Amino acid sequence: MKKQLVFRMCVTAGLAAVTSVALMTCAPKNGAQATATPASAERGKYLVTVGGCNDCHTPWVMGPQGPGPDMNRMLSGHPSVMKIEAPAKVDMPWMWAGDMTMTAFSGPWGVSCAANLTPDSLTGIGAWTQDVFIQALRTGKHMGKGRQILPPMPWENMKNMTDEDLASIFMYLQTIPKISNQVQEPVAGMMPPGGMPPGGPGGMPPGGAGAPPPTMGGAPMPPPTGPMVPATPGGPPMPVKKK
Ligand code: HEC
Repeated sequence: MKKQLVFRMCVTAGLAAVTSVALMTCAPKNGAQATATPASAERGKYLVTVGGCNDCHTPWVMGPQGPGPDMNRMLSGHPSVMKIEAPAKVDMPWMWAGDMTMTAFSGPWGVSCAANLTPDSLTGIGAWTQDVFIQALRTGKHMGKGRQILPPMPWENMKNMTDEDLASIFMYLQTIPKISNQVQEPVAGMMPPGGMPPGGPGGMPPGGAGAPPPTMGGAPMPPPTGPMVPATPGGPPMPVKKK
């Protein structure tokens, strides 16, 4: 009786191991469950279109139907002619702002400017390898090993893509028209993820566990000036209805 039970348990464990090996071969490295589709520039075009990359990486202009991305400057990033010197001033409850081209973003992290994703080798990603591209989006670090990639770049969502999908995006981006546009460096803010090192964003080390606490260019962060969080968890106090 006892022997039989042990045997059954072994068979079950064996089957489970076989299944998980089979699953592992088609799941992306990070463990998310997705079926791999072979990499191609065509699939990359599809993913860039549905992935909303143009919303932030293509400068917006006013058109007859209202504002929209200027596809003559497709994915060329924040225009260099619109230099941004300081974060936007917004009042509570507002936290962040976008510039008129929808390619620069201001928030507690400072100012971030969407990168030039065209294959221009000096100002875009023409000199990047596919591996560098995938590492950047998997790790959230500039080119896979530099400073933290700032919000609102949604790399935390994109890191769950399969290797094939990330490769497809890279392959497609290498086929789009080259546009020379040197995107400016970020402007230091109050609280970028991982903390800003003394000296500003230029020399940001990778953040993470060992990163210094958030500072403003070396100076300690001032305490919040107003009520930064609602008095009650989950939202501002609701007026109580009297019976
Ligand atoms: C909500 C806005 C937003 C969307 C949507 C977005 N990005 Fe970004 N992206 C940014 C910003 C802002 C930066 C610059 C961040 C920085 O400088 O730290 C950036 C930076 C990047 C970088 C440079 C990373 C590095 O190593 O420095 C790549 C590559 C990139 N984005 C690819 C994409 C792709 C591909 C898509 C679509 C699937 C996409 N982004 C969608 C805002 C966005």
